[in-house]
Amino acid sequence: MRFTVYTLFGSLVEPYLHEALLGKAIAAGRLEVVLRDLRRFAGNRTNRVDDAPYGGGAGMVMRVDVAAQALDELASDTPPPDETVLLTPAGGPLTQGLVEHFAGLEHVALISGRYEGFDARVEGLVTRQVSIGDYVLMGGELPALVLLEATARLLPEVLGDAESHRQDSFSSGLLDYPEYTRPPSYRGLDVPEVLLSGHHGRVAAWRRREALRRTFLRRPDLLESAPLTEEERALVDRWKSGAAPEE
Ligand SMILES: C[S@@+](CC[C@H](N)C(=O)[O-])C[C@H]1O[C@@H](n2cnc3c(N)ncnc32)[C@H](O)[C@@H]1O
Repeated sequence: MRFTVYTLFGSLVEPYLHEALLGKAIAAGRLEVVLRDLRRFAGNRTNRVDDAPYGGGAGMVMRVDVAAQALDELASDTPPPDETVLLTPAGGPLTQGLVEHFAGLEHVALISGRYEGFDARVEGLVTRQVSIGDYVLMGGELPALVLLEATARLLPEVLGDAESHRQDSFSSGLLDYPEYTRPPSYRGLDVPEVLLSGHHGRVAAWRRREALRRTFLRRPDLLESAPLTEEERALVDRWKSGAAPEE
C-alpha cells in the first residue's frame, strides 16, 4: 500500500517514518510513504502558498490552486490514489471503521494544511475530509501520521501478532479489556484472580465482560451500535437502570 503525503513540513513527518514498527514496515516494503512538498506549487518568487482571507479576519488561507496542482500531480501517479483526503478539523471523524477502509486500498493521498487551512473550494476537489478529533492542531502533519499509522498496523505482516489488532479497542465495537503482566501483586495492586487460573473459558468470559463494563462506563455511545448478544444487552440494561458496575 502507498500513502502520498502533501505537506509544507515534510521534515516533521519524515523522522517518524524511520522508527519502530512503522519504520520496519516501510523498510520491509510492506508500506510505501511518499512525501511531497506543497511549496513546489507556490508559483511565486516568495514561495508563498497562502493568502489573506476574502471578507477579512485573522490568519492566512492556503490557496486552492496549490491543492489543485497537487491533485493534478496525483492523477498521473501509477496507480492514482483511490482516495484523496483533506485533513481538517471540520472533516468527518477518523474511526477504526474508516481506518479499516483505508487499509483495503492501494493508494491513499493525504493533504495537510497549515495556517487557517485551505480555501474551501478544495473541499470539492478531494474524495473525503477527515478530522482526527474535536480539537485544533497547528498543522495537518500529526493528523496525517495518525491516519497513516492506524492504517499501517492493519496491513498484513506489519504487527508481530496478526491477531492482536482484532481485539483492540473499537475493532469489536467495544473498548479493549484490561491487560496485566507480571508481577501478580505490586504495591498492594493485584492482578485479577481469574487471569492466574489458566482456565481459558473463564478468562475469555471475564475479558468480554470487562470490555463491556469499561465501554459502559467510559464510552456508552459505542454500545448503541456494538454487536452484543441478547444476554449482554440485558446486562447493559440492568446497569443502565441503576445496577451500574464500579470502575
Ligand atoms: C490551525 S488548523 C486550521 C483550523 C481551521 N481554521 C478550523 O478551525 O477548522 C491548520 C491545519 O491543521 C490541520 N488540523 C488541525 N487540527 C486538525 C484535526 N483535528 N484533524 C485534522 N486536521 C487538523 C488541518 O490540516 C488544518 O488545515
